[in-house]
Amino acid sequence: MRIYLIGMPGSGKSTLAEELSTLLSLPFYDMDTEIEEREKKSIPEIFTEKGEDYFRKVEKEVVQTFLPDNSILATGGGAPCFFDNMDFMLENGETVFVDVHEDVLVERVWQQQGTRPLLAQNEKEEVYNAIKEKRESRLPYYSKAEFTIEAGTKTPSELALEIKEVLKK
Ligand code: S3P
Repeated sequence: MRIYLIGMPGSGKSTLAEELSTLLSLPFYDMDTEIEEREKKSIPEIFTEKGEDYFRKVEKEVVQTFLPDNSILATGGGAPCFFDNMDFMLENGETVFVDVHEDVLVERVWQQQGTRPLLAQNEKEEVYNAIKEKRESRLPYYSKAEFTIEAGTKTPSELALEIKEVLKK
């Protein structure tokens, strides 16, 4: 079984992947970390030096060729929305959309400024607008996921248990 966690930046996919990994005794991987290791550059450096199109090609390569069986992948927020990545994930594993309200996302993203080149606006209100716009345009992809969990107010361990339950069904 492969489990793909998808959702907006700041939705807590990486923390949740780690929690789920302990609960299900499966290894987990973080897609952005995998990309950084391959490219030997940080995500902001890849965007600045090579551009988004290049990043999306490496991202596709990681989504579609890297994940071993019986493991969990925390995907980057944009991954399901480029090429045929979403269809690939639907065909090759269990997809879980970690859905978080914009108000919660903006707080988290704002506190981690500098790590996300597409949300690097100077004012919090601009970050909010960018998140709102991205979330709306990405929902058609995210909502194809087999399972959706409402994640804004629950702890990672509560969410991991919820995912374990839905996967049993
Ligand atoms: C991106 C999200 C990031 C990272 C890159 C692009 C996006 O991952 O892949 O900065 O397009 O939303 P997180 O969702 O882990 O922040």
